[in-house]
Amino acid sequence: MTQVTADALARPLRNLRISVTDRCNLRCAYCMPEEDYVWLPGAQILSFEELSALVDRFIALGVKKVRLTGGEPLLRRELPELVKLLASKPLEDLALTTNGVLLEAQAQALADAGLHRVTVSLDTLTPARFVALTRRDALSKVLAGIDAAARVFPKGLKLDAVMIKGLNDDELVPLLDFGSRVGAEVRFIEYMDVGGATLWSRAQVLSRAEMLQRLGPVTAIADDGWAPAERFRLADGRVFGIIASTTAPFCRTCDRARLTADGMLLTCLYGRSGTDLKTPLRAGASAGELEALVRGVWSARRDRGAEERLALSAARAPLRAPQELHDDPHLEMHTRGG
Ligand code: GTP
Ligand code: 5AD
Ligand code: SF4
Repeated sequence: MTQVTADALARPLRNLRISVTDRCNLRCAYCMPEEDYVWLPGAQILSFEELSALVDRFIALGVKKVRLTGGEPLLRRELPELVKLLASKPLEDLALTTNGVLLEAQAQALADAGLHRVTVSLDTLTPARFVALTRRDALSKVLAGIDAAARVFPKGLKLDAVMIKGLNDDELVPLLDFGSRVGAEVRFIEYMDVGGATLWSRAQVLSRAEMLQRLGPVTAIADDGWAPAERFRLADGRVFGIIASTTAPFCRTCDRARLTADGMLLTCLYGRSGTDLKTPLRAGASAGELEALVRGVWSARRDRGAEERLALSAARAPLRAPQELHDDPHLEMHTRGG
């Protein structure tokens, strides 16, 4: 039986983001500025059967939407097998966030397995910039991946672009034009000071207000109030989104739980610690015991991470130092899922 599980601020548990691997084949400056990382040990990574069993517990508690993330989720071997397991469950939405590098070869298999939608990260259309931003020469592969996804998910493709001043903030319009050509909705994301973003500075954030000013007159599109993206329509009819986690956070309507690849339950991207679900799962906890554990965590939840960061205003600096991230990889954005 499904139920609504609400937290201490009356936010329902509805959305689950699962990081299927902490590994990534890019090194985006806003997420993985180091070359080398301490990875989660292989034995700690949940199997597809374990993930499937946990997702059943979340569905029983009210989760309706699941998104697979990473690191880079397409690095996880046999990912379509996991998609197949999840697609058979009563979910309204089953989506994937990827950097697109490996998407060309996998798009069809993911669709065949029952994936509903794909979001590809694309911050620049300029090859040299792509190399500067990600430290890998892979833009042509990403563009081929987007082409494949546009064919296979014609109604379910989005492009996410983190906008950074002095780096790619002159590409708002080219990215919008590219999105129109491939039939994808583009979402511009404010640069966030999350774990991993050790190079972050307030001066580099292109704010929602600045984006709107540069894009010209727009009409706001009403939505259900729960998605992180605000959507807008340009005078020419084109629709785009802005995710303003830095200057206009959406903590008040945050209905998302996160599960790391090693089974840690997190209730905020900015949170210090999580709750280990893997140990009780592997020790044979019953469905009821696991549900009680998750319900307990969610009911007590008061996180407002991005709003608390906003309140720091001028004193705001990167959330975590490199050494702290090295000592506790669970603080990394690539471990928590983008
Ligand atoms: P849709 O279901 O298509 O609306 O996707 P989504 O926006 O939920 O997911 P996506 O993976 O595309 O997320 C886009 C970006 O929003 C992420 O890369 C983050 O920058 C930001 N974001 C996602 N989840 C959270 C969150 O829990 N808190 C905050 N502050 N930002 C988030
Ligand atoms: N700021 C904003 N978004 C980020 N992501 C990772 N790090 C950051 C950051 N510092 C998000 C991006 C990327 C996804 C995988 O994670 O949206 O597309
Ligand atoms: Fe870039 Fe995503 Fe990899 Fe982070 S996890 S380095 S944002 S591609």
